[in-house]
Amino acid sequence: MICVQVPATVANLGPGFDCLGMALEFYNTIEVHEISSGLHIDVQGESAAIIPRDENNLVFRAAQRVFQQVGYRPTGLKFRIINNVPVGKGLGSSASAIVGGIIAANLLSGGNLRNKDLVSIAAELEGHPDNVAPAIIGGIVVSVPNDGDVKYIRLTSPPQLKCVVAVPDFHLSTKLAREVLPQQVSFNDAVFNIGRVALLVAALQQGDLSMLGVAMEDRLHQGCRSGLIPGMKKVMAAAKLAGARGVTLSGAGPTLIAFADSNLELIAQVMRDTFRQNGVNAKVFIINPSPVGARALHCK
Ligand code: HSE
Repeated sequence: MICVQVPATVANLGPGFDCLGMALEFYNTIEVHEISSGLHIDVQGESAAIIPRDENNLVFRAAQRVFQQVGYRPTGLKFRIINNVPVGKGLGSSASAIVGGIIAANLLSGGNLRNKDLVSIAAELEGHPDNVAPAIIGGIVVSVPNDGDVKYIRLTSPPQLKCVVAVPDFHLSTKLAREVLPQQVSFNDAVFNIGRVALLVAALQQGDLSMLGVAMEDRLHQGCRSGLIPGMKKVMAAAKLAGARGVTLSGAGPTLIAFADSNLELIAQVMRDTFRQNGVNAKVFIINPSPVGARALHCK
């Protein structure tokens, strides 16, 4: 039997739309073993009721993609998915499922694919690399699709950096959150984001959290998406007032995430309270960035 642990992820980190992401210390676990015939999928945990148990299951579909690539034909498969990352909240649940499926399938079929191949396959299935790359290699990852491949570089998260995560009690599909984006952006807005994403990468590399307030600003996607998330701008402003270094929509939302090195409980409280004042119940968590990505575990 193969057991794989895969982290949740935050994509974009503000200005790095579709190219920046970070792994969080918050994991799904996927167990798979080959059986004589058929497909059995057991799902437990968060969002279990809405996760398919048939050929439409994303873990299975991703595993099939790897089996096809390496020419492995399992007689039958049994999966057990322990799902902690909520679905449709902007914490990389689909990336976690895809990565769990491809890593498990790679191990089951002899481990012939390297991380580079796994990142490319996962990005192809997900449509963009910013969640799957940190889900595979951990830390903070800059990733760019290039000619069917993905170029990526991993950064180590600054040791003092903590994340305060506010997860609203409603789902937002990435498809819808991408449909509200404009076909074109102004030159000024493009320049605004280019400068900030460069500043953000440099600041994270040097551990200079004082830059994050400016470096995590965005003009490409968050403004368009704020209409889908009641209170989003107010929650972000309140978190900053309470001491957050920077605040961003997590992926396509609706989760918001504050980066901080102090006042963590206060930031969590004001994010929850401000969401509530805007009619949204939100769960709040304080989580560390995850230095590790997907990895095989000893099966119990
Ligand atoms: N970069 C993606 C987006 C992440 O913002 O749409 C969500 O999958």
